[in-house]
Amino acid sequence: MIKRDGNRVSLWQANIAPYESRNTINNNRYFDIAVIGGGITGITTALLLQEAGKNCVVLEAASLCFGTTGGTTAHINTLLDTPYTTISKNFGDENAKLVAQATNAAINLIKENISRYKIDCAFKDASAYLFAQDEKQAEELGRIRSATSQAGIAVHSAGNIPVPISFKQAIQVPGQAKFNPVQYVYALAEAFENAGGVIVQHCRVNGINENETADIETTQGNFRAERVVYATHIPPGVNLIHLRCAPYRSYAMAVKLNNDTYPENLCYDMYDPYHYYRTQMVDNEPYFIAGGYDHKTGHEENTQKCLMELEAHVRRYFDIKKIAYQWSSQYFESADGLPYIGKLPGHTDLVYVATGFGGNGMTYSQVSALVLKSILLNQDSPYISLFDPNRLKPVAGFKNFITHNAEVAKDFLGKYFSREKLHELAELAPGEGKVVTYESEKIALHKDENGEIHAISPTCTHLKCSVAWNNAEQSWDCPCHGARYSHDGEVLTGPATADLEKINMEELVEK
Ligand code: FES
Repeated sequence: MIKRDGNRVSLWQANIAPYESRNTINNNRYFDIAVIGGGITGITTALLLQEAGKNCVVLEAASLCFGTTGGTTAHINTLLDTPYTTISKNFGDENAKLVAQATNAAINLIKENISRYKIDCAFKDASAYLFAQDEKQAEELGRIRSATSQAGIAVHSAGNIPVPISFKQAIQVPGQAKFNPVQYVYALAEAFENAGGVIVQHCRVNGINENETADIETTQGNFRAERVVYATHIPPGVNLIHLRCAPYRSYAMAVKLNNDTYPENLCYDMYDPYHYYRTQMVDNEPYFIAGGYDHKTGHEENTQKCLMELEAHVRRYFDIKKIAYQWSSQYFESADGLPYIGKLPGHTDLVYVATGFGGNGMTYSQVSALVLKSILLNQDSPYISLFDPNRLKPVAGFKNFITHNAEVAKDFLGKYFSREKLHELAELAPGEGKVVTYESEKIALHKDENGEIHAISPTCTHLKCSVAWNNAEQSWDCPCHGARYSHDGEVLTGPATADLEKINMEELVEK
């Protein structure tokens, strides 16, 4: 089994051994390109660049697929979370067509890689079904249908949908797909290493000095590269990207059904947040995957409840034989609905980023690899300006941008100006965590399954927001930019690079 950035086990991580890097670092630690992050975005980007003649290294803080790639539900779509109505409104009709083209190119890249490297990752073409359940949703569905079609994507009316849920209207969008993301990434990683690339796992990047080249400080010594790509969702440091992206959690389960009526295609309702459904073969066994109940990271007091609500929802419509896996995962929403792929704002042209994929990480990971390849090889591409992280759109995404900022500000104020009175240390049950105030000190307390209390500072080491307990994944999650820490404060995901400070409880009590 591979490790992931949460306590729960996903369908993908349970059935696969950790990836073993084949190529070792020799004394020459100078590379053309250093890619930070060994998920689907980082590995695909590194492979494309290595194949194009660049000498690349992937630096991964944990192990391959530790982050969202190990926790995705792996829907591969051209029908996106940000509907083409919104894309057209924010970016214009021509750009909506470009987005549709880019997502088509992403699916083609996956198919080409699978055929070229003979990858066994249970890939299947599929249709996506989007269904409306009331009049208002039906009106919205009509608008989405025409904007999607106008963007150049085939859309049909659907008389049936793949799930036993009543609906008013539905559309079918062919040309989508599904696969096992970890098997895909492992095969690409192998191809990358066969082409001479190097993957260094358990290697956390602590900082980059941008001189003539990028000097990269890591837990495994220093590296140097002509260019660096952050494929970590959100880069560390303080950056405009942190204000233009908001972290979200989504919940998923993989179940065995009693009646063998596993839906072949992908299916989505129109609630906000929406529910999503599909089936995946793993080791020749079908699993029905359902997900939903998304919320902003660190903004849900009882994350376990999200899993319970998802289970209740699935039981209402499906005859469950066994719940095999339940887990949650993180993604980042951009302020205007399109990802940020390109030069990292506020940095020299040594540093690049790919983030803000929303719920379409599989598709946008491949779009990112194609766009970054064009940029780093100095090739023209119409997608470069479309996804430019430095794009200035005073109207597009402005409302979201303000909301994100306001929430970030609120968290800062909460930390520095709270006048909360002294609270008794909370009584915790095993597995629970809570931020309490003790002699004007805020303390993050967690009681583990053995009854042992872990006390750490709740102050996120990124920009000092206060973390919140995630009981579903037994982690401390930061509501500001999505950094996550283990129960005893070890960094799980950036933008933080340092652990939460440990508190010696005995000393504190003696004060
Ligand atoms: Fe930025 Fe915590 S992730 S303050």
